[in-house]
Amino acid sequence: GESLRSLAEKLGIYIGYASINHFWTIPDSNRYMEMARREFNILTPENQMKWDSIHPEPDRYNFSYAERHVEFALENNMLVHGHTLVWHNQLPFWLNRQWTKEELLKVLEDHIKTVVGHFRGRVKIWDVVNEAVSDMGSYRETIWYKTIGPEYIEKAFVWARQADPEAILIYNDYNIETINPKSNFTYQLIKELKEKGVPIDGIGFQMHIDINGIDYDSFRNNLKRFADLGLKLYITEMDVRIPKSATQKDLDRQAEIYAKIFEICLENPAVQAIQFWGFTDKYSWVPGFFAGYDHALIFDKDYNPKPAYFAIKRVL
Ligand code: XIL
Repeated sequence: GESLRSLAEKLGIYIGYASINHFWTIPDSNRYMEMARREFNILTPENQMKWDSIHPEPDRYNFSYAERHVEFALENNMLVHGHTLVWHNQLPFWLNRQWTKEELLKVLEDHIKTVVGHFRGRVKIWDVVNEAVSDMGSYRETIWYKTIGPEYIEKAFVWARQADPEAILIYNDYNIETINPKSNFTYQLIKELKEKGVPIDGIGFQMHIDINGIDYDSFRNNLKRFADLGLKLYITEMDVRIPKSATQKDLDRQAEIYAKIFEICLENPAVQAIQFWGFTDKYSWVPGFFAGYDHALIFDKDYNPKPAYFAIKRVL
């Protein structure tokens, strides 16, 4: 049958996945790549553009792994979604010391300009700032916030814009899909940044959810208010985790959730891309991070399409 990719292309949207570490050396590499190039037209390197991977020492960058993801994407006419320039996790050890504000600003500026500059013209979308807001709805207390203050956010966007004026620059976070204290804070923050002229083009909703689903009306309204700020909308890391003991009923319920979220996204013309955080359950972060959960993606561990895959196809 037709692929998700070809259906998405007819609708003018992107559909994608998180590309696993060293996919070019895994035993089932060919199978993995065949499926990726058939089904998707955008990828995000799952880890290999993060600080600890790409900037392992103060004066040394390692672009070689990230390059493999970019090469694969470009060879297959896919976009690359870069992830991520400012985050509090997966930082290299050398960052773990006392910095003055001026020192850390310089480190951050160099990092952003070097990485974005390196991929200029090839990575068309960047998650510039990832997860800067706490679940209560306040600034998250990260090394960046504590040393620099909230202005690290606007500075990061300005530097990214300078390094590649054509790239789409995104703020990305989880648990901001519906209207709640965290998404309210994020909305205010981005609204104020936009009013100040900070170059922020889009918002990424990670969408790591479980089979309780989400409040769909709230999701729809939330998409609308962010779109009304003039932002492009992205679903960046979708997965729908279910208990390890998955029954057929769980898989069907999961399919409904995937389909419903696609439906609501397609109603909003500001939605540019929907990306899963992987595609086969064989390679998913879920079992390692959510005890007792698994089976969060649209293909099973043998690369067979699950009910979620067929449900999404019916919506596209
Ligand atoms: C996760 C990766 O999937 C794991 O392989 C890694 O060990 C930890 O990070 N939000 C993000 C992603 O923005 O970078 C995270 O990715 C998942 C949650």
